[in-house]
Amino acid sequence: MNEITVLPLFSSPIYINNIESIPDYLKNYCYNLPFERFKEPTGSYSKNKKVLEEPELFWLKQKIIEQFNIFAYDVLSIKKHIKFRLTTSWVVKFSKNDYAQMHRHSNSVISGIVYLKTGQTESEGGKIKFLRKNPLLPIFDITHHNYNIFNSEHWDIQPKENCIIMFLSDTLHSVTTNSSDNERYSLAFNFFPSSDLGEGDSFLELK
Ligand SMILES: [Fe+2]
Repeated sequence: MNEITVLPLFSSPIYINNIESIPDYLKNYCYNLPFERFKEPTGSYSKNKKVLEEPELFWLKQKIIEQFNIFAYDVLSIKKHIKFRLTTSWVVKFSKNDYAQMHRHSNSVISGIVYLKTGQTESEGGKIKFLRKNPLLPIFDITHHNYNIFNSEHWDIQPKENCIIMFLSDTLHSVTTNSSDNERYSLAFNFFPSSDLGEGDSFLELK
């Protein structure tokens, strides 16, 4: 019998790694920033939307860029002459009953999250839920006897402290509700090309 091949073609790459030993001074700096509520009032984010430019977070910015370079140039094989820059970065605080609605990151190409303080229990929530772009058979309620990367409508990841997750910015995602009294903190960021792209009639000047 021939061996069957099934390719997960044009999947959404989700990069997951760990940043070793994020120093406490740096986390405390993030926790004590001034915050404001999201437009949809389900969480808070730092008023500073370029927080990684602060000298107190220089160590973390370097670590994020190291991880970004692996994802962009090794995993996604983007040509090395195409440079990127961090555009926005902000700390997210989830207090009791906060959650993040399904969203994608606008005006960005690659986005990511570093988890500073995560929940220890199920009630603290904090799972990041990635949603399939094109649902399989969206009209019909076809059930499966198990779920895998070919048939799942969403994929949930429970991040641990110091974990970094990166994804293409148009990947839909949400965050589950914090039902506990403990606050959760993460730091989100966006990258955008800073090199000119393409040539001829597809040339785009970005420098
Ligand atoms: Fe997000």
